[in-house]
Amino acid sequence: MTDAAAIATADHVMRHWAAPEAGPVRIGSAEHLRLFCRMLLETHNPYKPAVMVWPTLEPDAFQRLTSLPIWDIAVQTEGRASIRVKTFAERISEPLLRQALDMDAGEEARHKVVLGHLVASYGIKLAPEPAYPPPADAEWAWLVTGYSECVDSFFAFGLFALAKQSGFFPPELVETFEPVIQEEARHILFFANWVAWHRRNLPWWRRIAFEARVVAVWAFLIWERIGIARGIDADGTAQDANFAMTGGSAVGSDLSPQALIALCLSENERRMAGYDARLLRPTTVPALAALARRFLPRPKTAGA
Ligand SMILES: [Fe+2]
Ligand SMILES: [Fe+2]
Repeated sequence: MTDAAAIATADHVMRHWAAPEAGPVRIGSAEHLRLFCRMLLETHNPYKPAVMVWPTLEPDAFQRLTSLPIWDIAVQTEGRASIRVKTFAERISEPLLRQALDMDAGEEARHKVVLGHLVASYGIKLAPEPAYPPPADAEWAWLVTGYSECVDSFFAFGLFALAKQSGFFPPELVETFEPVIQEEARHILFFANWVAWHRRNLPWWRRIAFEARVVAVWAFLIWERIGIARGIDADGTAQDANFAMTGGSAVGSDLSPQALIALCLSENERRMAGYDARLLRPTTVPALAALARRFLPRPKTAGA
């Protein structure tokens, strides 16, 4: 097989997966656990960051890319995600779940390497990186990472499509970075199914504690994002973006917030479409975004 054919095959494999066994799968069952773990393990794309090609950019594209205010936060988010998932994985004794979580942590570590190569290739200066100590509360950190990815990936799907459509990123750069975005789609699909499986397997008193934790995670994420919007992240480090909200104009488009949400919804559906229909899809963020779309002021149309 040629290199190009091998890459195309790996790309197809990472986007399409169904278990060969037919029949319904009960959420929370051992079959359900096997289904979502195998989905992650068998759709792994073995690309090597060191051989990814970062295209030479025209001066204006170079300027746009290097001035995006996301690089510090993106590198640090991947660093934190990797240690958090790894720490949670180390507590898991069920072999298949452990294997899938280890792979998830490895993919986060690889995202950081990919971003490191991108940043180095284009001479982007980063703020000094913090240390990434293992979290004291592994489950809390896993839940924060999982739900954060559900929010960030949903908007990243739309913004990435928008940047592609508007020509903000040249097509070769879009292609190089594309597998990272699809990997996040697999991660949130895996996470949504883990949450549902875990929930069903808790006795009622632990289930109440777990639901309280999920509410606390959402409260934390809202607080954290308000901090980011103000330019201060949770560790007190200055950051520069509430990128999910302002990202449309930052990637060269004057799309209305409604149209951007519609694009995020359709991209979310497209990226999830290739996986076994018996897996649950992440629904909270798409539902909240669809609700927000109804309450946003209508954009003015010509002649209105
Ligand atoms: Fe990641
Ligand atoms: Fe991820």
